[in-house]
Amino acid sequence: MKMQGVQKHILICSGKTCIKNGGEQVAEAIREEIKEMSLTKFIHTTKTLCNGQCKNGAITILYPDGIWYKEMNEDSGRKLIKEISEVRPLEQNIILDYKNHQFVEEETE
Ligand code: FES
Repeated sequence: MKMQGVQKHILICSGKTCIKNGGEQVAEAIREEIKEMSLTKFIHTTKTLCNGQCKNGAITILYPDGIWYKEMNEDSGRKLIKEISEVRPLEQNIILDYKNHQFVEEETE
């Protein structure tokens, strides 16, 4: 994979618990939306092992923003790609955000 020109890297948790919570469908929806929006040169995706946030799965992580998303599903996966150029995409699913050189928990209830 040529990374030159890539602007966003999305890590999609494919650990056991996230897969049970629809992680595979999240990955498919995100990847389909990237193709449909012709963003394949700008957004790279990687499936990962467990990210240690199982109780909030399915987890998706956006870099370089450093934003972690909880309870992802096909709809929120597609919405993330649609909103990715916004300052804080998919605000309602944010669980961790990178601020002042550290991750901070976000209250999204
Ligand atoms: S399996 Fe996804 S955070 Fe643990």
